[in-house]
Amino acid sequence: MTDNPTTGTWSAPGRVNLIGEHTDYNDGFVLPFAIEFRTAVALQTRTDGRIRVTSSFSSDAAEVAVSDLAALFPDRRDEVPEWARYPLGVAWALLEATGVDVASVPGVDLSFSSDVPVGAGLSSSAAIEGATASALNDVWGLGLDCVSLAKVGRRAENEAVGAPTGIMDQMASMLGRADAATFLDCRSLQTESVDLGFAGAGLELLVIDTKVTHAHSTGGYRERRASCEQGAAIMGVPALRDLTVDDLARAQELMDDVTFRRVRHVVTEDQRVLDTVETLRSAGPRGIGQLLDASHASMRDDFEPSVAALDLGIDPTRAAGAIGARMTGGGFGGAAIALIDHSLVASVTAAVERAFADAGYATPHIFTVHPSEGARRDV
Ligand code: GLA
Repeated sequence: MTDNPTTGTWSAPGRVNLIGEHTDYNDGFVLPFAIEFRTAVALQTRTDGRIRVTSSFSSDAAEVAVSDLAALFPDRRDEVPEWARYPLGVAWALLEATGVDVASVPGVDLSFSSDVPVGAGLSSSAAIEGATASALNDVWGLGLDCVSLAKVGRRAENEAVGAPTGIMDQMASMLGRADAATFLDCRSLQTESVDLGFAGAGLELLVIDTKVTHAHSTGGYRERRASCEQGAAIMGVPALRDLTVDDLARAQELMDDVTFRRVRHVVTEDQRVLDTVETLRSAGPRGIGQLLDASHASMRDDFEPSVAALDLGIDPTRAAGAIGARMTGGGFGGAAIALIDHSLVASVTAAVERAFADAGYATPHIFTVHPSEGARRDV
C-alpha cells in the first residue's frame, strides 16, 4: 500500500424497464434500459483499512473497518443507516465473491451524489450498487466482469438490505448502452443489446413519477414473489419461466384464483418481452404500443402491484395520443412510462398534471429519459 491516495470518480445509471415486469425472479425475460440519471461516487483510498460512506442525499454517514464487514452483514445490518447498507453491502458482497484477503485491500472514503429520483421505481439503489461495485472492483484490483458485478449488487440488495429483488436492475445499470435496451434472459444471464430507435422515429419516453414512494424490502413485493414460487411448485417446474401460454388452462384448474392470476401475468409477460424484441427489430418502436398497454393491463388486473395514482398517470396519456403506456418497476407506487411523439410532450404532460389535480393528488414529476450508457469510470 502506498502513502499516495488513489482518487477517482465512477458512476452508474438508474434504469427504466420498458417491459418484462416481475419476470426476473421467475427466471424469465426483461427489456430495461439505463437512463441518463446517474449516481456518482468519488473515491479516495485511506491507509487505516476502514471504509467510510457519505452522501449528498443523506446527512447520515457510516464508517466501519473493512475487516468488520463480514460480521456486520447480514445479521447486524441495522447498525448502519439504511442507505449506507447499499454501498457497504456491495463492499461486503465483493469480498465474499472474490475471497480476497481483507488485509490486502486499502480502506476507502466513498462520497456519493445522485440525480436518480429515489422511490420512483427508477432503480436509484442499483445505481449506488453499480457505482460502488465498479469503483471497488478497480481500486481493489478484483478483476470481476460486469455480470459478476451485477450479481454482487443483487446479493447486497437481497442480503445486506433485505429486499428480495431479482437481477434486472443491476444488469441494466451495469450494461446499458446509448440508444439501446438490454434484452436479458434472467436464467442464463445472457444479454443482447436491442436498438430502440426512439430518436430516429421522433419519439420520446416520458416518465411520470407519481411521487407515491415504494420500498421492496417490505410487504407486497415479497408476497408476490412467494405466490410465483407457489405457482411454479404446483405446476412442478423450477420457475414460471418454464411455462408457456399453453400451460395456463391446466394452471387454472390446479390453483386458487389469486395464484393463477399472478402466474398468468408472469407467463404472458415473458411472451410480451419476446414479442417486443421481435417487433422492435421488424417494425421499430412505433409497433410496440399495444404490448406496453397489454403489459399494464396484466399488471393492473392480474399481478395487482398497481396503485390508483399509477392508473391516473396512464389513462390520460392514452387519451392525449400516447403510442403505449404502462407502469414501470416493481409497482406499489413509483412511476409510469408513456411512449409518445416528440411533439406531444407538453400536451401529454399537461393532461396528466390536470388529471392528478382533479383527483386531488400532488403534482407528479414528469420528464423524458433517453437510453444511456451503463456503469463506468468517469475520472
Ligand atoms: C424491482 C426489482 C426488480 C424487478 C422489478 C419488477 O425493480 O428490483 O428485480 O423484480 O421490481 O419487475
